[in-house]
Amino acid sequence: MNVIVVYASRYGSTRGIAEFIAEELREHGVQAEARSVDANPNPGEYDAAVIGSAVYMEHWLKDAAEFVRRNRTVLAERPVWLFSSGPLKLEPGTSPDDPELEPKEIGEFREIIHPRDHRVFFGALDPGRLGFAHRALRKLPAARKLLPEGDFRNRDDIEAWAGGIARTLETP
Ligand SMILES: Cc1cc2nc3c(=O)[nH]c(=O)nc-3n(C[C@H](O)[C@H](O)[C@H](O)COP(=O)(O)O)c2cc1C
Repeated sequence: MNVIVVYASRYGSTRGIAEFIAEELREHGVQAEARSVDANPNPGEYDAAVIGSAVYMEHWLKDAAEFVRRNRTVLAERPVWLFSSGPLKLEPGTSPDDPELEPKEIGEFREIIHPRDHRVFFGALDPGRLGFAHRALRKLPAARKLLPEGDFRNRDDIEAWAGGIARTLETP
């Protein structure tokens, strides 16, 4: 079983999640490698795929969404899991599984490639690395509350999810 973990990351935290996932799959004896969407990997060369993107303004990064659309035929024929690296902080009373946190593209992806699951993971933000537009957006009062500085990635959650993928792939 050979799995590709494809990621789109603006500032590196989604790449880190993809690397944790690939590492955890390997721990379970599944051959896995994390590759950036920029390298345009061919999912047809793998038995299964995990695809994830950072989320900005409720959307996946364009290159990640286009990767899914461009490879839809091959992806629809394989087991695929999706993840989003998104929220940094939640409004009280909400959880990462709330449908309103789901990036806008996920409904379309469910229809075209039938993923086994889509999971939202907490992300990370280092204000010193933000580009000009993102820095300006973060200053807006509505955004400020929801975009605190820090690394909120939860390695245990990520590993548990990847472990579940490995168990599914190992089941004949
Ligand atoms: C300007 C800006 C807008 C963001 N918008 C969203 C959003 O709409 N939904 C969300 O869940 N996270 C949002 N985030 C959080 C990022 O998705 C999070 O920081 C993510 O881990 C970044 O991944 P990357 O380092 O791989 O680019 C936003 C972050 C910034 C700086």
